[in-house]
Amino acid sequence: MSTIEKEDGIQIGKRLHNKVAIITGGANGIGRETAFQFVREGAKVVLADFDQAAGEEVLNQLTAQGAAAIFQKVDVSKVESVKQMVETALNTYGKIDILINNAGITRDGMLTKLTPEQWQTVIDVNLSGVFYCTQAVITHMIEQGKGKIINTSSISGVYGNIGQTNYAATKAGVVGMTKTWAKELGRKGICVNAVAPGFIETGMTAKVPEKVIEKMIEKIPLQRLGKPSDIAKAYLFLASDDSDYVNGTVLHVDGGIMI
Ligand code: CAA
Ligand code: NAI
Repeated sequence: MSTIEKEDGIQIGKRLHNKVAIITGGANGIGRETAFQFVREGAKVVLADFDQAAGEEVLNQLTAQGAAAIFQKVDVSKVESVKQMVETALNTYGKIDILINNAGITRDGMLTKLTPEQWQTVIDVNLSGVFYCTQAVITHMIEQGKGKIINTSSISGVYGNIGQTNYAATKAGVVGMTKTWAKELGRKGICVNAVAPGFIETGMTAKVPEKVIEKMIEKIPLQRLGKPSDIAKAYLFLASDDSDYVNGTVLHVDGGIMI
């Protein structure tokens, strides 16, 4: 742990003391909760999101707490936009220690009805976006000799899910990229891992028909959907020095739905 504070006589470590973390999709849902957890652990946070209004609201809340944070509008599916976001992060904080590739979208539809537009939009954001963001930070991390890349897969990418041909393809692709980069970059001091959430209570699952959610909850041994904080804590572990010997893994945070 990088620093130790005393709280009621108990020693508490700040697990991300002075670390700079880019969180894509940091304006809402899981990314938003991650930003709050990361600043509590001493990180400086770059909220990188498409949604300017929500991003600025989160930024205001973070800075009101005295946190070091910036909001940078980005479309992760556009390579130039991503390069600009990373340049701003480096100009502001001088380094990047952690990249959380969390931005993601759904455009669900049964295979019989899925349109080429639904297919391509999800590929562009969930798959190409992860590639663009990682490539944009990686030269810096290699020079630094240390870094943490955390990708966001999904239960859908690992096991499949009705109505999610496009989304499942991207989230399976994220697993493949994670393992490839873990092999390529381990020797450079960079750990690359993925989190595969189950169904988590955010705007994304709010669009799912109620009967589908009810069926899912029946299958979960813990008998509830996950909360954004359940995923943020997994990101935190993989972003911190506590996971320095964890590389190329897919951490399933899904209440045990598939056991
Ligand atoms: N399990 C079992 N049956 C299902 C089902 C499911 N999960 N989803 C749909 N079906 C069945 C329906 O009951 C229906 O059956 P019948 O033909 O016998 O009536 C049939 O499949 C067709 O379904 P719809 O009538 O709903 O078809 P639609 O074309 O109107 O809508 C859909 C299709 C958009 C895919 C809609 O079913 C849907 O939104 N499903 C939920 C998809 C889903 O789970 N998305 C997860 C989003 S959250 C997320 O992505 C986060 C993450 O990583 C997990
Ligand atoms: P959310 O919809 O609440 O938040 C996603 C964020 O990504 C939003 O702030 C949105 O503006 C941003 N975003 C979307 N497209 C973008 C783009 N092109 N450029 C920049 N930002 C963009 O969703 P949630 O649930 O917080 O999802 C976060 C991640 O977790 C996603 O990758 C999602 O696929 C994944 N996930 C979510 C699950 C769930 O049940 N909610 C389950 C498994 C995985």
